[in-house]
Order: sequence, then C-alpha cells, then structure tokens
Amino acid sequence: DKGNHRHFMAKEIYEQPETISHTLSHYVDMGAEKVAIRETLPFDFADLSRLTMSACGTAYYAGAIAKYWFERFARLPVDIDVASEFRYREPPLEKGGLSLFISQSGETADTLAALRYCAGQGQHVASLVNTLESTIARESGVVFPILCGPEIGVASTKALTAQLTALASLAIAAGRARGVLSAEQEAELVRALTALPSAVSAALGAEAQIIDISKRLSKAKDVLYLGRGAMFPVAMEGALKLKEISYIHAEGYAAGELKHGPIALVDEAMPVIVVAPSDELVDKTLSNMQEVAARGGKIILITDEDGAESVGHGVADIIKIPHVHSFVAPILATIPVQLLAYHTAVFMGTDVDQPRNLAKSVTVE
Ligand code: M6R
Repeated sequence: DKGNHRHFMAKEIYEQPETISHTLSHYVDMGAEKVAIRETLPFDFADLSRLTMSACGTAYYAGAIAKYWFERFARLPVDIDVASEFRYREPPLEKGGLSLFISQSGETADTLAALRYCAGQGQHVASLVNTLESTIARESGVVFPILCGPEIGVASTKALTAQLTALASLAIAAGRARGVLSAEQEAELVRALTALPSAVSAALGAEAQIIDISKRLSKAKDVLYLGRGAMFPVAMEGALKLKEISYIHAEGYAAGELKHGPIALVDEAMPVIVVAPSDELVDKTLSNMQEVAARGGKIILITDEDGAESVGHGVADIIKIPHVHSFVAPILATIPVQLLAYHTAVFMGTDVDQPRNLAKSVTVE
C-alpha cells in the first residue's frame, strides 16, 4: 500500500522520521542518554585491532560513512570494500577479528560470499540486516536488526538511514568500550541521534524547492556530486540514486579530488551538487565549489544555515537542511539527495519503483 504517495519510494522517503525513531528505540536508552546494545556480543570492542566491513551498493555507502565514525569516535581502524571485490581479493585477516556485513535483503550473493570467506578465516561474523529470516542473518554470529519495515522500492532509502542509525549506535558502543568516549561525550552523541527524527521531518520540508531544481536536473546529461569527509560517501550515494532511477549519468567525487581530473568536465551545462553542511571542513569544500562556479558549473548546494551564510549570494540554489551535530549530519544529508533523485526520475517519466535492468535483491553475482 502506497498510502497517499505515487510511488513506494516516496512513501519510504516520508516514513523516515518514524523508521529512524524505531531503530533508535532498539539501540538507545534515551532517558539514560546511552547506547544500549541488546544483542549478545561474542567479541569485545576493546580487544579489536580492526573492523572489516563489506557490502554492495547503498549498503556499502552506509559502511563507508560509518568508517568515519568508528575511526573517529572509537579509534578503531576500519577496512571497507565492496563485497564483489572483497570476496576475490581474499584479504589476510587476523583470527578473532570482527567482520561486519551490511545488507537490507540479507540475500545479496556477493555479500554472502564475503561473509563465508570471513567465517572461514576465523573472524567473528556480524551482520546488519533488515530481513531477519535471511541467509546472511542465519549465517552470522550476531545479527543487528535495522527494523525499518519492508522496503519495496528498488532504490534504497529508509533502509539506508536505518543502517546508518544502527551503525552510529554501534560506533558509540565501540567508543565507550574502548575508553575513547567519556559518559558526557556519549550523552552528547546520543542527544544528536535523538534529535534526528524531527530534523529529518524538517529536511523533508524542502520538497517544493527540490521539485523545482529537479525539473532543471532532468535536462542534464551528466551530474557531479561532491563531498568531503563523511559527506563523500553521501555524494556517491546521491550519484548512485540518480543513475539508478532517472538514468542520468552521475558521479560522486571527494571534493578534494576535483582538481585531479573531474574539473575538466565542468561547463555551463554541468550541474554540480555539493553536499556540505557546516563542520570543521566546510570551508575547504566551499572553496572547491567556488572553483566549479568560476568555470560556469551550475551549483546546487546542500547545507545548513551557517553554511549558507558563509557562501553569501554567489549560489542560486541552496537546499537548506537543519543544523545538527556534525556526527549525524551525513544521515540528514541523505534526505535531500533522495528527494532530488526521486523528483528528477518523476520528471523523466521512468519507472521509479522498478527501474530497468535492476532487481531489489541481487542473488546472483
Ligand atoms: O539488499 P542489499 O542491501 O544487500 O542490497 C545491496 C544493493 O543491491 C542495494 O543497496 C542497491 O545498490 C540499491 N538498489 C541502491 O538503491
């Protein structure tokens, strides 16, 4: 049932304030301002020297964002790779290490093969899934549920924000176990997480403006997405979502890589979506953005009030998201990126929920 929505994807985008709250209620003790992991862990975060993650598509980008969190808030080194590469690379893994697999369906063939490889190497196998009665869940030593309800649209939306919410909670738990986060720091991060559902509702309020921008975006042949830090995987996710449902070619790049090649593509016909909420790196990204503007590129900036103030009047299209703690900003920034892809696809007249050549669950390699 699509409710009042034209597509399942729209319904699932709009469900996110609720689905994030639901995921949070499983992982967070709001009253105590602490993360409370209910699953029994067959390992201790304090003993780990490395976390290895593997996944495909959007689930891979969830892991790529979480890498910044585990490294920063738990000082835990993270290796992450797409499962189709990881499984054949057969990387050396220390016995007793932790491998984490992220999969909405729990049936993705490459992710499952990567999991079996790690199990064979004596790793602790953990998975983050939506479908609890799935092969990946069954073969995991510990299963972290993301609890967002069935996702019908082929393009993953609410599963991504649920994966991120669970991963953020795990990163806090790891930070506490490893003695990196004090109780006050944990409380600050938990408050940032609990502020998310209402911030997501507010971010959805930019829809009318996003429809207007999407109309122009639907005329583009190529679109570039730029981001720095944890916004870099958000940029890649934005490009994937646009390609997948609107069939417009898009690339996500680390903002600092712009001048190492892709800037050659920039001309007046090139929309460049810059994902840059205010944080300690925002000025660097905004200066990369000015380099695009100087070459006539059409900028669409996703930022918050402070970010918008620091660019002044130079940028025509600024999509504002509420100011949140920089820890959770990548979760919030996925919202306008989803809406842009959705509305562009609607203008293109594509089959949004069932894009051509794609399956919801990729059970063959
Ligand atoms: O079920 P999974 O999370 O393992 O699926 C992984 C990818 O196939 C999936 O995220 C895909 O990239 C989405 N269609 C992206 O929107």
